[in-house]
Amino acid sequence: MRLTMIGGGGFRTPLVYAALLRDRAPGRVTSVALVDTDEARLRTMTRILATQAQGVADAPAVTTHTDLAEGLRGADFVFSAIRVGGIEGRANDETIGLAHGVIGQETVGFGGISYALRTLPTVMHLAEVVKRVAPDAWVINFTNPAGLVTEAMAQVLGSRVIGICDSPIGLARRALSALGLPTGPNVEVDYAGLNHLGWVTSLRVDGVDRLPELLRRPQQIEAFEEGRLFGAEWIQTLGVLPNEYLHYYSYRREVLHSDQLASHTRARYLLEQQAAFWSDAHGAPDPLAVWEAARLDREATYMATSRDSVGMGERNADDLVSGGYENVAISLMRGIAYDEHSRLILNVPNAGTIPWLDDDAVVEVPCIVDASGAHPIPGAQVPDFGRGLVTTVKYVERETIEAGIGGSRAAALRALAHHPLVDSVRVADALLDSARATFPELSYLD
Ligand code: G6P
Ligand code: MN
Repeated sequence: MRLTMIGGGGFRTPLVYAALLRDRAPGRVTSVALVDTDEARLRTMTRILATQAQGVADAPAVTTHTDLAEGLRGADFVFSAIRVGGIEGRANDETIGLAHGVIGQETVGFGGISYALRTLPTVMHLAEVVKRVAPDAWVINFTNPAGLVTEAMAQVLGSRVIGICDSPIGLARRALSALGLPTGPNVEVDYAGLNHLGWVTSLRVDGVDRLPELLRRPQQIEAFEEGRLFGAEWIQTLGVLPNEYLHYYSYRREVLHSDQLASHTRARYLLEQQAAFWSDAHGAPDPLAVWEAARLDREATYMATSRDSVGMGERNADDLVSGGYENVAISLMRGIAYDEHSRLILNVPNAGTIPWLDDDAVVEVPCIVDASGAHPIPGAQVPDFGRGLVTTVKYVERETIEAGIGGSRAAALRALAHHPLVDSVRVADALLDSARATFPELSYLD
């Protein structure tokens, strides 16, 4: 089986490769094609993966490609994790947002829309090339904003593109471990919403929902990340567990204030951290060790300003262990390749699951994955208080897609002005002007 990784020179590629190395099942991935625009990163990445493969029998062969079509040829699965405009673009979104008094985070609000507008032309081209060169391949989309990008690519690839995110399963895993329960095949998580905008509504272990028990225990709630971010009292008031990205909505004033005070926004921090990583890793005798140190640092500093905004402090040590991102991807691939009927939380067209959203709206819900793809399980319940937000943000995503594909500035303005984290039409207009003036990738907007 052949896996092509678009953005294969990216920082998280070794996570996926490590998961592939752990997979000993017959019919597993035997060849990995890394596609990237940056040849130097591809060279370093090849050395990191070679170090990971040392001593592993039949490790998947790795090839590198700067030509997209060449890298896609023969692919059974395609992982897409790209960042159009790089971390510099992410940093500029944050700076522009803050200059106009709004959060510029990469996937929500102004930052998410601006990032999507940069990304959409590229991912639509990618979808077209996949359709031409590898029409039978399954595309697993990591590229953020993942739900919106998946919905846009589905216009070309239909149900062959599936979006993934590690945050729902990460939330469930952290919540269960606060109760001393491991995640395993006996666990079924109910979750509903959009990408980076959803809620865990039950945590069944051997058929028994353990969420009510967790909700009764404030100490346990504040023993895990999201519980501490939102506070036990608010989680108990909600009666469900919010995705960590909802913190930008629930505490927008506090996060904005923290961002304004911070010496570095997230992307400014990563710009320096990642630049140091790539330059240290390029010639290092053990680039895998350099990567592992940078990964731990990246995890430890994740969502630092959000945590600062509520005085939360350091992350728990077991949150620094990875296992979300790559395991969702590998489980999805295995579910399809081996017809495993596995249950995973994925970004797929709604198809009636959430009755008040239309069928084509990509939602993030539990799915059954088999050889014919990912099928949403009926019954996902968005909490009543979340319906308005989900409806509004889905509208915003669609206007963004319209702008990104058709080039309409008016659609981009509708998206920005209706986003709950952008509080004035005048601000939306100014944000759009600033983004267009900053990003050459947005010159297509008329
Ligand atoms: C989580 C989210 C991803 C996002 C990442 C950002 O894993 O689910 O969608 O890309 O965080 O992490 P970073 O280290 O880049 O801030
Ligand atoms: Mn995500």
